[in-house]
Amino acid sequence: MNLAAKLRHELAVAIGSPDWQAALEAVPRELFVGDAVYRDDAGLGWVPVHRSQMSPEDWLALVYTDETWVTQVNGVMAENAIEPVAILRPTSSSTLPSLVVRMLEAAGISEGENVLEIGTGTGYSTALLCHRLGDKAATSIEFDPVVADRAKVALAVAGYTPTLVQGDGLLGYEGNAPYDRLIATCSVRTIPLAWVRQVCEGGTITAPMLGWTGGVAFAHLRVADDGTASGRFLNDDVYFMPARPHAAPPLDVLELGSGDVSDTQIDPLLLTDDAALFVAQLAAPQAQHGWAGDILTLHDVDTGSHADVRPSPGGGWVVHQRGPLRLWDEVEKAIVTWQEAGRPHQSGFGLIVTGEEQRVWLGDPDGPGWNLPA
Ligand SMILES: C[S@@+](CC[C@H](N)C(=O)[O-])C[C@H]1O[C@@H](n2cnc3c(N)ncnc32)[C@H](O)[C@@H]1O
Repeated sequence: MNLAAKLRHELAVAIGSPDWQAALEAVPRELFVGDAVYRDDAGLGWVPVHRSQMSPEDWLALVYTDETWVTQVNGVMAENAIEPVAILRPTSSSTLPSLVVRMLEAAGISEGENVLEIGTGTGYSTALLCHRLGDKAATSIEFDPVVADRAKVALAVAGYTPTLVQGDGLLGYEGNAPYDRLIATCSVRTIPLAWVRQVCEGGTITAPMLGWTGGVAFAHLRVADDGTASGRFLNDDVYFMPARPHAAPPLDVLELGSGDVSDTQIDPLLLTDDAALFVAQLAAPQAQHGWAGDILTLHDVDTGSHADVRPSPGGGWVVHQRGPLRLWDEVEKAIVTWQEAGRPHQSGFGLIVTGEEQRVWLGDPDGPGWNLPA
């Protein structure tokens, strides 16, 4: 057994998925990772690491580490980068294989099914799909033309010929519909209606969700005969980069401590909890959150609405709010509802998507609810 096959075998055994073991043993991740990746260095930013700078053994060891390897930052491919790239967001990566498999398992994919994948990236997860289901059963869409071309070559070299589409995955791909399973390896803010229409009755949509406030939830929705899609969020915390058209708009420098003043008994530090942040986002989906020391900021770029919350010297917290939306008041109401329900994880919530609205409910479909942004 050569070194790559040995490392692949060890990775597959460590992941321990009977359904995906053969695919993990067969797909050569080195073809998909390419010739360079970025390493996250807190001081320098994203530092390119080139295959040519390492021994072949060390490079393979890197490739088969169960880690996400970022391959593109702000549109710059790692193989074209010589200098570190400043602190910007990754725009493409090879997701850590164990997470890819968790996604595939959560989707409940099995032989004979027709699958649409959103976010081809390096093509690694697409290759796993092809290996298990066959080339004809896999369709994958990638937004970025450079990333899409690279994945196409890597898949061809590995011997896989799925349907590859370069374009906006939020529109789905009518050409091979209907799909039994749709999985997204980028996060969405709302579920695109095209997905619901292109998945067959009884089929599922499995998608990480990420809103502008930074709240995440893992949707697994079943499409019903009335054309709606619904389901409870999964009890698994996954984070994927945002689908490009769903990313938050850039924030300007914020002015703090101005506007109407009130007080609150809700500790803003609560929003460091993922479930609480998700709840805050339901209440104020346009707001982006940040911290200036111990001051929480909520800012909505569209309307200019702003809130900041800081500790009060006399106990409790002081709130400053301005603009048409009272962002903290909305967040506070939702947080109280969530606390009264026993502070559940996101899996205590569910989502129903109809042609008219996307409503997140708490507890059960008749429980308190919030509409996702249109
Ligand atoms: C985490 S990476 C995908 C990882 C990939 N599945 C793998 O195994 O290597 C997310 C990818 O989604 C792509 N993406 C972002 N928005 C998209 C969209 N609207 N449609 C299709 N792809 C999108 C990004 O360009 C990026 O390549």
